Amino acid sequence: MSSNRIDLLRGRSAPLEMTEDQFRSLGHDLVDRIAGFLASVRERPVTPAEAPDAVRTALRATQPLPEQGAPAGDLLQNAAELLFDHSLLNGHPRFYGYITSSCAPIGILAELLAAAVNANVGAWKLSPMATEIEAQTIRWLAEFIGYPAGCGGLLVSGGNMANLTCFLAARAAKTDWDVRKQGVAAGPALLVYASRETHTWLQKAVDISGLGTDSIRWIDTDRHQRLDLAALELQYKRDLEGGARPFLVVGSAGTVSTGAVDPLPALAAFCRERQLWFHVDGAYGAFAAAAPGTPPDLAGLAQADSVAVDPHKWLYAPLEAGCALVRNPAALSDAFSYHPAYYSFGGEATNYYDIGPQNSRGFRALKVWLALQQAGAAQYRAMIGDDIALARHLFELASEHPELEAFTHNLSITTLRYVPRALRESTGSEQTEVELNRLNQELLARIESSGHAFCSNAVVEGRHALRFCIVNFRTATEDIEALPQWIADLGRQTQGGE
Ligand SMILES: Cc1ncc(COP(=O)(O)O)c(C=O)c1O
Repeated sequence: MSSNRIDLLRGRSAPLEMTEDQFRSLGHDLVDRIAGFLASVRERPVTPAEAPDAVRTALRATQPLPEQGAPAGDLLQNAAELLFDHSLLNGHPRFYGYITSSCAPIGILAELLAAAVNANVGAWKLSPMATEIEAQTIRWLAEFIGYPAGCGGLLVSGGNMANLTCFLAARAAKTDWDVRKQGVAAGPALLVYASRETHTWLQKAVDISGLGTDSIRWIDTDRHQRLDLAALELQYKRDLEGGARPFLVVGSAGTVSTGAVDPLPALAAFCRERQLWFHVDGAYGAFAAAAPGTPPDLAGLAQADSVAVDPHKWLYAPLEAGCALVRNPAALSDAFSYHPAYYSFGGEATNYYDIGPQNSRGFRALKVWLALQQAGAAQYRAMIGDDIALARHLFELASEHPELEAFTHNLSITTLRYVPRALRESTGSEQTEVELNRLNQELLARIESSGHAFCSNAVVEGRHALRFCIVNFRTATEDIEALPQWIADLGRQTQGGE
């Protein structure tokens, strides 16, 4: 580099830098836009339901990377308009799809603050306050679900990563050879037990960790979509006779399709007797453990060796925020710790890079920590309870509606389907079921593209259902009360090909 260039860098001002006044003015403008957007969410379509080509055209997706820069204000304005006008709004009161929550506004502000400090929460030395805030958040999350506050834990990107983190802790803890060094092939075939309703994180975990998907023993469920204990016992016995090494049982605290809660205390006892690791996937439902009137089986969470929970689901944190909790904190370092020469991080406080899969880590805890304090535990329990009450209300209204058939209600998920009056009498017959499956799949597509409301699907005992999941503190009684007739009207139009 020429010495001229070096001279120019005295009192350097790089193209990405902003003056204090510029930042303030651009920031105020952006916050004003976001405030307006949030205030207008109810009046906007849940989704513009555009085809990919339309979105790409709005973006001008084929434009080359600009060689020269542009004013930050114009860029922010354009980005805000693109996103506000061409996004699915999961913060909409009538968004009931998947298990994605409306996010708390304080979480939005927290993301701004976290990025401003840009703490690298991989090591205490690099993020003293952020690390301690994460540690306090972990204790509070454990306390909220009734898990021992002395557990180990860390925030990760979401439910899949939280479950995978716990899975790897279990794998290291339950193998009597050095599985991290020698790999899974150095020992007997490891086996995992989980109900057929378990989320697909499990396939990814056994795949990534080298066990392979054949290591999963899928256990049948009962008619309430809960893991069948007798089937588990039978399968376990058969596997022992075959010389395999069962090491892990997974229970779900709220299955992804219907919100069913497995018999967690019984599973905990099963694992204790056989010295198996008991993991609970509580990504969706664990936070309901604290809410009134929820299944008593949720109390079994407290007995698990590890639990995955997702603040970006029922704590209404903006994406991404998942959390792995492990009863014995040492099990996390035993599964993840390496000490490279290029790190000089002391052991006097937690270094999160040492107890989880990530190295550099963002400050995910801040948005969770702030929201927990803004609402407080009691109000959180109430909000979760309200979501459940609204889902139950929908189930009851659908049960009474002459053109709807309500299937399930667990936690805050209700499943139902549209049944035309003419087919009411023949439900259950093969021909009618085929017709109803087709009709409800088409109806789902219409709902999704309506912009009025958004739900997803479930298959309940072979029947295609519309699935409404309320993890949404903006959904109100009137939204739910208007739904059954709206669905029936749309169902009739779908059937008539209108
Ligand atoms: C029960 C359950 N486990 C795990 C996951 C995966 O969570 P994420 O999408 O945050 O990775 C989900 C997602 O809905 C879920 O419902």
